[in-house]
Amino acid sequence: MKMIVAIIRPSRLEFVRDALLNEGILGMTVSDVRGYGRQKGQVEQYRGSRMQIDFLPKIKIEVVVGGNLFEKALQTIRDAARTDHIGDGKIFVLDLENVVRIRTGEEGHEAI
Ligand SMILES: Nc1ncnc2c1ncn2[C@@H]1O[C@H](COP(=O)(O)OP(=O)(O)OP(=O)(O)O)[C@@H](O)[C@H]1O
Ligand SMILES: [Mg+2]
Repeated sequence: MKMIVAIIRPSRLEFVRDALLNEGILGMTVSDVRGYGRQKGQVEQYRGSRMQIDFLPKIKIEVVVGGNLFEKALQTIRDAARTDHIGDGKIFVLDLENVVRIRTGEEGHEAI
């Protein structure tokens, strides 16, 4: 099992969610976050004219998938989040040890 943590543009959230639902990938956690990448938060129109580091608003999504859906989920998120401009975000992939579905007590793949 993998946990996919993706930092994306807020404007792409609905598109990413719909694309994942279309692939049958159910379940996602979403958080409002702030961050910066290589450009240190300088937005395009400020490029080169600002020394201070700004935190730009981003969305963090967390999606847990079994091994069979992992590649599909990763590609789907990337395709849906992408605009080809700086600040499109990043996807982090973590090995996930276990999942427990609280209501039923199921564990592992069955609990996803
Ligand atoms: N190394 C990192 N560690 C943790 N979070 C990061 C890292 N790099 C980027 N992020 C998060 O991802 C968001 C978007 O990053 P961003 O897309 O600007 O990355 P980048 O490497 O600068 O790529 P690009 O050149 O396409 O802008 C950041 O605001 C931050 O929240
Ligand atoms: Mg950047």
